[in-house]
This record gives sequence, structure tokens and C-alpha cells, in this order.
Amino acid sequence: MEIYIDGQFYPREQAKVSVFDHGLLYGDGIFEGTRAYNGRVFEFDAHINRLYDSAKAIALEIPISKDEMKQAHLETLRKNELTDAYIRTVVTRGVGDLGLDPAKCVRPTVIIIADRISLYPQELYEQGLKIITVPTRRNLPESVNPMIKSLNYLNNILAKIEAKLGGAAEAIMLNQEGYVAECTGDNIFIIKGKTLATPMVSFGALKGVTRGVVMKLAAELGLEVVETTLTRYDIYVADECFLTGTAAEVIPVSEVDGRKIGNGKPGTYSRQLKDAYHKYAMEHGTPIY
Ligand SMILES: Cc1ncc(COP(=O)(O)O)c(C=O)c1O
Repeated sequence: MEIYIDGQFYPREQAKVSVFDHGLLYGDGIFEGTRAYNGRVFEFDAHINRLYDSAKAIALEIPISKDEMKQAHLETLRKNELTDAYIRTVVTRGVGDLGLDPAKCVRPTVIIIADRISLYPQELYEQGLKIITVPTRRNLPESVNPMIKSLNYLNNILAKIEAKLGGAAEAIMLNQEGYVAECTGDNIFIIKGKTLATPMVSFGALKGVTRGVVMKLAAELGLEVVETTLTRYDIYVADECFLTGTAAEVIPVSEVDGRKIGNGKPGTYSRQLKDAYHKYAMEHGTPIY
């Protein structure tokens, strides 16, 4: 495996960053997760734009242009001879001293790792996930805004730990007011009748790229799509529930906090959207070669 760091490629064992990098010392940095399907990078601009927006929000100036960044991604995929891949992009504040002042960091570190995608077990898609609501609340937008894909994922990791301790695969995180925000690495949706609903991003969710594509596909299936406030009650009484994310794609949820969703099996629309999403992803994107 060849990993891109600041314009150079390194074999996996030699791909290293300094212990003085503020990404490591303080979680000071941002990241992206993008996928390539069938020789194309899916929703490339959406991911690159979100990366630069995350950087702007933390006042970090990425040292290369968006076009150079895209070329670096394509080169990384080509070097690794990949057609289907998960790409992790990381931009840290860079090497500084032990103080947290970002002004001491001379140049941000840009890292691109392209790996074969490790898929979730197929039975999870067929049976649906059992998930629970956890005590840890999603970050306040006034502190670290959940719209920023920052290297500070401890908030989500604490929620994930709570889910695992509670015997569940994934956690529903509420915002400070108790409304549903999202899961630890996925957005959440419900279907009630012919309406597809998902929390507004201002309620503490990342503006997921998969979320956006699924909303478009759902409208094409004839569903009314709304971004709204959701409570746990709305989820318990929904006909269907599913999560979306670059890695998970569309994954049905069968049970929330011990309540079966619908009849406890992945719903019709969830299955249709899962298939429609996969088909769409296989047919759209920026060619790698
Ligand atoms: C907290 C969080 N929510 C939602 C998502 C889903 O976003 P996307 O569909 O862009 O991968 C992710 C994954 O990146 C995430 O980390």
C-alpha cells in the first residue's frame, strides 16, 4: 500500500507523522471519508468541498488547491491500482510544539490513505441493526459544531462505547435539547407513511453526503422528504428506520431501545433505497483512470 503524505508516497510501514503533530497532540485537524465504486470516485466534489469547509471553520489553510487535492486523491488510487476503495483524507494543523497555539504549526500535514473497502457483514443489511439511545449528547453547535468533520471524534467514540456496553451495534445521539441528532458515524432517517424524515443539520448532525444522495433518490421513489425535528417517540412509532454513511451506505434498523421498528424487519422503502443507492453509486462519479 502506498500512502500519500505531503506530496510524497510512502509504503504503509514508513507512512508516519511526527509526535509533535497537533493532529495527534490535540485532535487539531479535519478529515474526510470518500468511496470509489467501479473505477469512479463517488460524489468527489461534495467530499472535497466539505473538507475545505471543515478546514475553513477551524481556520486551517490547506496548503494545496482543491484541484491539486483531487489530483492527489486520483494519484493515490492509481498508485494502489484500486477501482473500489475507501479513501481517508486527513489534514492536521501540522508539526508544532507542546503548546496548543496553532500559530506555532508551520504547515498543515495532508494525508491520503486509499484502502480496499471492508464491508459490513451482509446479515446486518438483511436483518437490520439493533441500536440504542445513549446518554452522551452530540456536541453543542456553539462548541465544536457537528458540521465540522474534525479529528476530535471523542464525543462520538464515547457514544459508541456506551452503545457497545449496552449490547448494541450503534448509538443514537441526542442533541442538548433531547432531539435526535444522528448516530456516531451515520445519519438517521425514518419513514412514516409516504414521508421520509431526517433531523435538520442544525439539530446537531453532520451534513452527510450519503444523506443528500438518499434524499434525492427518495424523492424519485415518490416519497415526501422532510428535514425536521425528531424525537425518540417519532422513531419508535415509525414504519421504517435506516442509517446512511459513506462506509455503511444505507443500512436498515430493526430495533431501537428495545422497540421493534415496523414489523422488526427491514422495510420496503429501506430496501429499495439501499438498492437504488448502490446502483446510483456504481454508475456515477469521477473516473480514476
Ligand atoms: C458523525 C457522522 N455523521 C454522519 C456521517 C455520514 O456522512 P457521509 O454520508 O458524508 O459519509 C459521518 C461519516 O462521515 C459521520 O462521521
